[in-house]
Amino acid sequence: MDLLKAIEERKSFRAFKPDPIPKERIEEILKLTIHAPSAINLQPWEFVVVIGEEKERLGRRLIKAYKEKQIACSPGNVKPLPKTYGKRGAKTLELMKPFFEEMRVDINQYVNEGSCNFYGAPVAILLCLDDSFPAARMVDIGIALGYLVLTAHQFGLATCPIGLITAYEDEIKDLLNIPENKNVVIGVALGYPDSEIPINRFKSQRDNLEKFVRWIE
Ligand SMILES: Cc1cc2nc3c(=O)[nH]c(=O)nc-3n(C[C@H](O)[C@H](O)[C@H](O)COP(=O)(O)O)c2cc1C
Repeated sequence: MDLLKAIEERKSFRAFKPDPIPKERIEEILKLTIHAPSAINLQPWEFVVVIGEEKERLGRRLIKAYKEKQIACSPGNVKPLPKTYGKRGAKTLELMKPFFEEMRVDINQYVNEGSCNFYGAPVAILLCLDDSFPAARMVDIGIALGYLVLTAHQFGLATCPIGLITAYEDEIKDLLNIPENKNVVIGVALGYPDSEIPINRFKSQRDNLEKFVRWIE
């Protein structure tokens, strides 16, 4: 049973080789992804898989939109964020810093433009949800995302969830002819990791379990 190992090993990669992934492999990953549970088995997820020249076009369009609108990666909080969360984000960035210094790149530019281009991955998968669903169904999409990244890992492929692109949803829908009544919830970069690039050596940390759990007995 490799699941526990996959859970421990999986991480987000932020530099990909351009080598294409066979369509059959992408399909295999998605077939396993849709084993995810969902409320009333509604299976509300929809996947838009963008590959080849279309993926490159999408990346170019999103980078252009980022340069125009300057909406950057952020927690997207709707109220001031309690300190604990801010500290975690800051610590992660601090730990990433030496890798970006080694690469001699500006961290914000690399992460924001990189996210818009799916970090050069040959495959961009957009997870969409019909807008007739309430926000609660985002849970189902989140579970599918978890299945997707773990399955890809099991096949030796790298992923990075990309939330930033949802800031540029209008551009995405326009370019890919995604109907108005579909929400783009999250994107995923999928491909072979480029192990020469320093940031791919970075592995994020987790706080101790006690920080997250309250037992009631
Ligand atoms: C909903 C969601 C949105 C994310 N959006 C981005 C993004 O836009 N750009 C990016 O570089 N990473 C993004 N990530 C990756 C997170 O930064 C990453 O999961 C986190 O730092 C933990 O690291 P790990 O995935 O390596 O364990 C996103 C992850 C999730 C779950």
